[in-house]
Amino acid sequence: MKIGIVGCGLIGQKRAKALRLNHQLVAVADVVEQRAQQLASGYPGCVYFSDWRQVVDHPEVELVIVATTNNMLTPVALAVVKANKHLLLEKPGARNATELAELVEAAEESQSKVKVGFNHRFHPAFLKAREIWETGEPGELMFIRGRYGHGGRLGYEKEWRADPEIAGGGELLDQGVHLIDLSRWYAGEFDSVEGHVATYFWQMPVEDSGFMLLKSTDGAASNKGQPRVAWLHVSCTEWKNLFSFEIFGRYGKLQIDGLGGSYGVERLTYYRMLPEMGPPETTTWEYPGEDKSWILEFNYFVECIEQNRNPEGNLHDALASLKVVEKLYKLSSVDGATLPQSTSQPKD
Ligand SMILES: NC(=O)c1ccc[n+]([C@@H]2O[C@H](COP(=O)([O-])OP(=O)(O)OC[C@H]3O[C@@H](n4cnc5c(N)ncnc54)[C@H](O)[C@@H]3O)[C@@H](O)[C@H]2O)c1
Repeated sequence: MKIGIVGCGLIGQKRAKALRLNHQLVAVADVVEQRAQQLASGYPGCVYFSDWRQVVDHPEVELVIVATTNNMLTPVALAVVKANKHLLLEKPGARNATELAELVEAAEESQSKVKVGFNHRFHPAFLKAREIWETGEPGELMFIRGRYGHGGRLGYEKEWRADPEIAGGGELLDQGVHLIDLSRWYAGEFDSVEGHVATYFWQMPVEDSGFMLLKSTDGAASNKGQPRVAWLHVSCTEWKNLFSFEIFGRYGKLQIDGLGGSYGVERLTYYRMLPEMGPPETTTWEYPGEDKSWILEFNYFVECIEQNRNPEGNLHDALASLKVVEKLYKLSSVDGATLPQSTSQPKD
């Protein structure tokens, strides 16, 4: 396919790399033109612009990847679907659910296929876990426990992620939507949302930590009358980068640790309870090396386009995750922009 990229920062570059030889990057844009130029220089024939509209309107571009700061995700995406081009939109898709709802409506009226960048579903450990889960062997879902965090970096409180106007929220919106999305993938819709967000460390007007207790009570009868629960924690005061996601079935647990790089080697462990109970049968798979989730997600999206079907990890999934985020902001009496200031000093 002929691809355009808007937003040539960290993720725009990762997305470009994931196209490999199968697709052609024909146009890129970034408000920082030098970034666009630099990215284009690695792809023969690729043109670059500082105005994103030039990528969306480029006659050859069939699919646009939008990887801007959060404030521009929806405005650019709206233009893409109105031009009936396919869209890979980075998570969280928008700054809030209201903003995204407008895009959902516009996308439904267009011919575009739309996927949101929930690449975590495509990490090999998650794909293997899903394969095991679907055999039915681990049994009915009981609950999920997920933790995701990093420790920020010097000046983190001055980056766009700390600015509510640009980001729309803090850590809950940033890494939180991945944990919510992964949990929904197993537990379905959450009709009960409890929790708390707070700013413990960073001198910024958005949260640096989010705690969630999410419950799915529909179909509860299939699980001895108990709701399916996700118990999640995200933080950018996690001084050692951490990713951990545990899925508890009645007869076994699937545990995913690490995402590669600073999060440690990606690993899936399957603990299968034996009829006599006691220590479970334990099998571990490790996935060292390059993070393939970007390639796998993109290939899946192209396959959906070719087969004219809507991808999973779409705008509806993003909207559901943003609604959970919004409920938590309300519960904590913040709107993502009015969090109490931390009293602690940032790292120096
Ligand atoms: N899928 C994931 O796991 C994942 C991981 C990190 C970030 N993200 C998402 O990707 C997006 C980008 O994050 P990042 O880490 O690459 O940030 P970044 O700051 O490295 O890059 C964002 C780029 O967008 C550009 N930009 C801003 N406004 C623009 C406009 N109007 N037109 C063109 N370019 C514009 C900026 O100049 C910058 O180069 C965010 O929405 C973020 O939530 C997703």
